[in-house]
Amino acid sequence: MSNMEMKNQTRISEFILLGFEDLHYLKIPLFLLFFFIYILTLAGNLLIIILVVTDQHLHIPMYLFLGNLSCLEVCSSSTILPKVLASFLLTNKAILIRDCMLQYFFFCGFTGTECYLLSVMSYDRYIAICKPLHYATLMNNRFCRNMAFVSWLNGFLASAVVVLCMSQLIFCGPNEINHFFCDSPPVLKLSCSDTHAVSMVIFLLSSAFTFPPFILTLISYVCIISTILRISSVAGRQKTFSTCSSHLLVVTIFYGTLMSVYVLPETNKVINLKKIFSLFYTILTPMVNPFIYSLRNQEVKMAAKKLFHKCWTIS
Ligand SMILES: *[C@@H]1O[C@H](CO)[C@@H](O)[C@H](O)[C@H]1NC(C)=O
Repeated sequence: MSNMEMKNQTRISEFILLGFEDLHYLKIPLFLLFFFIYILTLAGNLLIIILVVTDQHLHIPMYLFLGNLSCLEVCSSSTILPKVLASFLLTNKAILIRDCMLQYFFFCGFTGTECYLLSVMSYDRYIAICKPLHYATLMNNRFCRNMAFVSWLNGFLASAVVVLCMSQLIFCGPNEINHFFCDSPPVLKLSCSDTHAVSMVIFLLSSAFTFPPFILTLISYVCIISTILRISSVAGRQKTFSTCSSHLLVVTIFYGTLMSVYVLPETNKVINLKKIFSLFYTILTPMVNPFIYSLRNQEVKMAAKKLFHKCWTIS
């Protein structure tokens, strides 16, 4: 710490994103794996968006929300994965601090939106299954549009506040981030300004964005599952139960890994664990969501068949 004064004067303008540097001997297989994941994510989600936009039968709240979710997944994986893929191929892992903040702004905005959207979607299913008679009045078009709009607005407002706070920080080295994207805990650790206030803002906002939607989602699914268990037909019970439990599983993994990354302290011991947990909500949920939520669904399957049939006859 003898050169502390000198450090204070030299502000750095770049970070080094180490990514999966400790696994550099697996560079090629990891590149192929992530490339495959990215292609699958784009294909699955774009298919859903096309189906929801083009098929009149899918213009009901549940599918409009699924369309929004797919939109979100395409965007959020595109803020993280291209950079990860490039880091396997390029030796220069530098990223301008400005670009780092921009990446975090989009990541944070999309993730915040996703938290809200997932809980709105579970509320929609709750009304549909537990209060079917009130569905048409409660889930009218205006309400759905507002909910979708509020989710996006909230996510990006919160993200703007956080990034505005973070952009006031000064960085004077070291500049290595042991992560595969610019997330706030490792970035804050590198700052030579006082980060207490910013950490507090981030903690409060991320709690507000993860806990209430998670609790709401959990309550919705518990009500749904208890309603299903009272359905008399065994076949109907099994089908709805398998759908809901897979939603519940994905949602729990998403919120669980997200919360643990921001709640666990940033010590060296948990850094690699956090990196693995981050993989779940940044890369894996965007890939599996279209398969879990939409493509197992009978109406979506029908719409897809119709679309492929149309394309086939045209070509
Ligand atoms: C998102 O949701 C809104 C409101 O329900 C809807 O109007 C819009 O079409 C949806 N977007 C997509 C891509 O599904």
